[in-house]
Formats: sequence, structure tokens, C-alpha cells
Amino acid sequence: MVEPGDRIIRIAEHAQALHSGQNLAQKLDALGGERLSDSSRAASNDAGGLTLSARSCQPKKSPKAALRRSHIGYPDPSATHEPSIMALTRELDELACSHGKCAELARADAMRDLERSVYGCDYGGNGGATRLEAERVFELLELRLGVRLLDVGAGSGWPALYLAQISGCDLVMVDIPLASLRIARERAVADGLAQRCEIIAADAAALPFRDASFDAFNHSDVLCCTPDKLGVLRSCRRVARDGARMTFTTISLAPSLPATERGIAMESGPRFMDSEEDYAALLRQSGWSLRERIDLTSAYLSSMWSELDGMKARADALTQVFGQAEFTRRMQRQQAAVAAIDAGFVRRELFVAQAGG
Ligand SMILES: C[S@@+](CC[C@H](N)C(=O)[O-])C[C@H]1O[C@@H](n2cnc3c(N)ncnc32)[C@H](O)[C@@H]1O
Repeated sequence: MVEPGDRIIRIAEHAQALHSGQNLAQKLDALGGERLSDSSRAASNDAGGLTLSARSCQPKKSPKAALRRSHIGYPDPSATHEPSIMALTRELDELACSHGKCAELARADAMRDLERSVYGCDYGGNGGATRLEAERVFELLELRLGVRLLDVGAGSGWPALYLAQISGCDLVMVDIPLASLRIARERAVADGLAQRCEIIAADAAALPFRDASFDAFNHSDVLCCTPDKLGVLRSCRRVARDGARMTFTTISLAPSLPATERGIAMESGPRFMDSEEDYAALLRQSGWSLRERIDLTSAYLSSMWSELDGMKARADALTQVFGQAEFTRRMQRQQAAVAAIDAGFVRRELFVAQAGG
């Protein structure tokens, strides 16, 4: 009998098996040659059908050679998307490892307590979304029963699982670190959401779904944490039905900063905060129409201040969680972030867009 959560459990456990003992070629062989060749053919022949391996499987290399650079593979249990292999650049792999570690550490009682007091939730969120913001997203996306929502860079499930809970919508969550996805899976099962929730390990810039298969999209503070912003927006657009809505928040540099201020800001914020172009232009280029652009900087500053105060108040407990050196590093980083936002070097915005015109 299929128990609630079985579908999502299989995905994570299989991917975990791929990390164990064997060398990567053996692990990939274990996935099945047919399946891998099929994926590669689909990637080169049918750009619309399957894009997961298209990014890093170069056409002239054999599927296996290309896949040797892969990091995680998983069989796909659902009819709505295809079996595939995720190939990660080193940059993305490092990023995923660091986000995965953060997600594990965020499970500690003192961290959950801090999260509840500042953000009004306890999912192990790793961005700036408060409960109030999640409720705003719920309204902007008009989420309800029957709507299919994709949350990209979902981490350990905040705010995606909350959105599914308050709206009744169907939810697919995508991220790269399995550590985060396992936490999301546990919460989905605990909250009774497993039957309408799928969790997939995938690169957001190469989503493994069929064209036009989602009605709504959210990504909270993901574009500032990933190098290929245009790739993510294009990939979302491909799998969006015409008229689908998308909300996303992102942390970015204030425009036209002098070099010194820019340097200070870059030290204080997410690694990929700098964007090659303004988000309005990236949305246009990827086939999205910008509907609203809302400045959330002052709410963000206030959360970051409370978080800093909360960290100080829980110094002993958090030192136990992180160790002295890491706790000190986090405090310094938090102070630098607060200073940069307060000085107007860094902002946080909410974008609302629609697929097509
Ligand atoms: C700041 S965290 C936000 C997590 C969650 N949305 C939240 O608000 O708590 C950014 C997330 O984006 C994910 N991410 C970054 N680049 C990604 C990519 N190319 N594909 C999928 N996820 C990605 C990271 O692994 C991380 O979980």
C-alpha cells in the first residue's frame, strides 16, 4: 500500500543512495543506461520536453562522459515529468552544500525559537520571508484548491508548505541540497500535505517538467543565491501556462553604488546578489510581464535587526549549536548586513509577474 509521503520519500532516498560508496560512473550505471541515454536524447532533440540534462550535457560528449560531472541523479516517479540526471557546476554544488548545512543547523531548538520570534514561522526558513509576507504572496498568486504551484529553491519548505496549507493548492518544491529537501519532506508528512506535494531535486535553471505544467510560481530569495538568474526565469516561463502568475523576492545591490559602497554591500549579502541586469529587464527577456514591484527593504531591515537582537539574547544556546567561531562569524555577518541595509546599499524587493503579455 502506498503511504502518504511515499512518493517524495522515494525520490530523496534514491538520490541519497547515489551519494554512497561507489564511484560516480557506477552510481550512474545503477540508474539504468537506457534511462540515461533517453534523457540525453530528449535533451538534444526536444528542448521543450526535457531540459534537465541539457545545460551541462554537451551534445558532442557521450551521455556517460557528460554525466560523470553530475552530482545527483534521481528516478522520476511521476507522469508529469521525465527521468533525468542533474548536472551541477562546481559553483552550484558548493552553494548547495552550504545551504544544506544551514538547513541542518536551523533545526536546533534555539534556531527554531529565534525563527518563530522574528519570522513568525518554524520551518527552518533561510531567507527574509515573514509570515505576513507569505500571506501577501498567497493573495497575490490567488492560490486555491486545484492550482498547481511550483516553489523554486524551496529549501526546507518555507514558505511553500505554508502556502499549500492555507490555500489547499497542489505543490511541487524544487531545490538542490537533499538535506533541505528531507526536512521539507518530513514537514510535509507531519502537516498532512504529502498527498498533494512533490519534492524534486533539480536545478531551477533546468526544470525537469513538461511545458506549460504550472499555474503559479514562487521563489523566496533564490535569485540572489544563484548565478544564472535569466536561466531560472526562462526555465520557469517554459513550464508556466500562459497567464500563470509568479511572485519572487530578491535581495539586490542599490543601483549605481560607488565602488567602496558596492564592496561593503557585496561582503554583507548573499553571494549572487549582484545581477547582470535589472530584474525588470530579466523578466522581459524571459517572457514574463512585470505587474508589480514592491520595495520590502524597511520590513527586511526591521527583521534583520530583530534577528540580530535575538541572536544576542540567545548567544549561549546558539554557541552550543554552532561553536564559538561560527557563532562569532554569524554575528559579524548579521551586523554587516544590518549596516549595509541601513545605509541604503542593499534592498529587498517583491516582484509580481505574469506569463506572457
Ligand atoms: C536563501 S535560500 C531560500 C530558501 C527558501 N526559499 C526560504 O525562503 O527559506 C535560497 C535557496 O535557493 C536554492 N537555490 C539556489 N540556486 C538554485 C538552483 N539553481 N536551483 C534550485 N535551487 C537553488 C538554495 O539551495 C537555497 O535553498
